[in-house]
Amino acid sequence: MSSNIFLRPPHLPLIAPSILAADFGRIAEEVMDVQRAGADLLHVDVMDGHFVPNLTMGPDMVQAMARSCQLMRDVHLMVTDPQDFIKPFIDAGADHLTFHIEAPGLKQFGAENLIRRIHDLGATAGVALNPETPAEALEPVMNVLDLVLVMSVHPGFTGQSFMPETLEKVTWFRHRLSPRQRLEIDGGIGIRSAHDALEAGADVLVAGAAIFRASQRSGTIQLLRGDYPR
Ligand code: DX5
Ligand code: ZN
Repeated sequence: MSSNIFLRPPHLPLIAPSILAADFGRIAEEVMDVQRAGADLLHVDVMDGHFVPNLTMGPDMVQAMARSCQLMRDVHLMVTDPQDFIKPFIDAGADHLTFHIEAPGLKQFGAENLIRRIHDLGATAGVALNPETPAEALEPVMNVLDLVLVMSVHPGFTGQSFMPETLEKVTWFRHRLSPRQRLEIDGGIGIRSAHDALEAGADVLVAGAAIFRASQRSGTIQLLRGDYPR
């Protein structure tokens, strides 16, 4: 595993490029390039074709990234049965796993049990909510999770438009999370929406298209952080 900066962030906000928007034909170069450009960690979007209408990557991709880059690996599981994939991803080098509170597999397994399993295997645990899911859905696990992930698009694809109405949930969580818990936002983040998400209280920004399609990646990462040139 690489060092998990969610526990002791060197600074905030953290910027997490979503490799879903990278050029898969040059993935090793792509992750090294965003590391050089100042990214804090890598966000890995795992989709199973059931929970969301797209298929992406599995543990082998995490293992390949671990060979080419030292950045922390934040795995976002958009799958029906997250309980089946915890160990394979942690064995492959995932430092952090986020699953969705809407995942059907939780009905049997339970969100709290899943968080404990992730912790027992040595990773940190996050819980994500889709745009239409109310913040209160996470209340039963608020004391045990390490991160809340507010989805600001309907999950499935990179390059969608930011949904500003999801910022209300960011503010709701900001008032309830402790300083050791992270608040991540994912979907449609660009310079403008990053600014609004930071104002609302997010401290980890995922960005796919905004970073990988930028002509100047390091400048874009600085702008996403809120470091504007004077
Ligand atoms: C959406 C994924 C996101 C996505 C972000 O389903 O969870 O991580 O790749 O990409 P952008 O920033 O392009 O919306
Ligand atoms: Zn994601």
